[in-house]
Amino acid sequence: MTALTLSTSGAATLRADALVVGVAKGTGAKSGLVVAPGAEAVDKAFDGKLAAVLETLGASGAEGEVTKLPAPSGLKVPVVIAVGLGQVPAKDEAYDAEALRRAAGSAARALKGSKKAGFALPTESAEDAGAVAEGALLGAYAFTAYQGGEDKLAPKGAKSPAKLPLGEVALLGTKPRDKAFKAAAERAVAVAEEINRARDLINTPPNDLYPESFAAVATAAGKEHGIKVQVLDEKALVKGGYGGLLGVGQGSTHGPRLVKLAYTHPKAEKTLALVGKGITYDSGGISLKPAGHNETMKCDMSGAAAVFAAVVAASRLGLQVNVTGWLALAENMPSGNATRPGDVLHMYSGKTVEVLNTDAEGRLVLADALTRASEEKPDAIVDVATLTGAMVLALGNRTFGVMANDDAFRTSIHEIAEEVGEASWPMPLPADLRKGMDSPTADIANMGERMGGGLVAGLFLKEFVGEGIAWAHLDIAGPAFHEGAPYGYTPKGGTGSSVRTLVRLAERTAAGDLG
Ligand code: BES
Ligand code: MN
Ligand code: ZN
Repeated sequence: MTALTLSTSGAATLRADALVVGVAKGTGAKSGLVVAPGAEAVDKAFDGKLAAVLETLGASGAEGEVTKLPAPSGLKVPVVIAVGLGQVPAKDEAYDAEALRRAAGSAARALKGSKKAGFALPTESAEDAGAVAEGALLGAYAFTAYQGGEDKLAPKGAKSPAKLPLGEVALLGTKPRDKAFKAAAERAVAVAEEINRARDLINTPPNDLYPESFAAVATAAGKEHGIKVQVLDEKALVKGGYGGLLGVGQGSTHGPRLVKLAYTHPKAEKTLALVGKGITYDSGGISLKPAGHNETMKCDMSGAAAVFAAVVAASRLGLQVNVTGWLALAENMPSGNATRPGDVLHMYSGKTVEVLNTDAEGRLVLADALTRASEEKPDAIVDVATLTGAMVLALGNRTFGVMANDDAFRTSIHEIAEEVGEASWPMPLPADLRKGMDSPTADIANMGERMGGGLVAGLFLKEFVGEGIAWAHLDIAGPAFHEGAPYGYTPKGGTGSSVRTLVRLAERTAAGDLG
């Protein structure tokens, strides 16, 4: 794990493998490349010609651009890395926190294999320092658990070629003794480490991560962080009548689990319930997915991973709010025991559901968990799920959809996401789409009209939320798993989408800012 330090030494005296500076695109009279604040000492070591040198090398300051150059003799590092921050901000305005996060992430990624780097990016405010720290720790992430082991055919003592993540991020130009800076750094470490924990779980192959093993990870983390964890195994689910979880999980040799994580604060006035879709592998079941649609379906537990990470982060930050996490874990597989299209499930709520498509399984496990969460009468419920391909078609690969039974709550979530640098968009729950789920046999079917499929899924979930409880549904099917080239602080694979939104929501709830 990458360490974070608030360094007291200046850029000129820091001994490290590299120094990271920010550069931006100038505007108006000052067009061309501009060196961002924080890099003054580095620029001085270049005799004030850092911008000119970088321009000669073709740098423009564009977001995501990384330029490496050898350091001049005045510095105690061999390499300087210039990262683009995009457009220079308007006069008297600070750099956008998300631009800082992404730049720090790109730099940290480029520093794979290094031990220590000093980050001399603009960090005038504690918030900006937190953003740089968060971006660097997230960008440094690498999933290497399954690489570089012993190879019987390799010569004895041969080292694995896998490069380790950057070892230490030293933040320069901050105020290490200032309370706000220290708090921002500690928050960044907790949040980034928990996001990286979620990424690890998402990236873990489904032959190793299944409901039982996921529950064991949650139990262990609960012990470590003072969170009460209860696991309902198959027997307990049968006894409790959790037909949704059981119906989805019955085709697999790995039985389903419902995990409850309870973080409580003695002075909490509000309780937030978070519910996560935890399909550890989604083959589609009897309505089997075709090849080309199942290769990344280990990511179908990203909602549960995000909820888990958010509860642990809330505990690590000691937030004055109760946060309960519900992980609805099952593996969706076809077999002689699997649920058939046409089967009717008796849900935990008492409702019956006709399963018309076993690939619409997420809503079934979530329905049981939402009902169970509602029984405890929390002040609000947020569920997170890689729920529909339709949401990916609607919003693309980087934006999650937000639906809710309360417009103000939906707006709050969207604004909170924006504030923490996560792209989201409010989506409606049109009542006319409900009739498509009418079933001749059961109370409701698990499928409706194809058009607006993401909203249909949201409408289904809504029926399993307790009366009078504010509820929001985040469909993260697009951003949960990144298949393209890494960018900013976003790696290939599991991203940890929505963790930052959930943590900020918990902070806002603790502060009494919501409802
Ligand atoms: N896990 C999938 C949704 C998904 C798709 C997540 C792409 C991530 C990337 C979900 O269980 C699913 O299969 N949904 C179906 C629902 C349909 C059968 C009503 C879908 O979206 O096609
Ligand atoms: Mn599915
Ligand atoms: Zn699924």
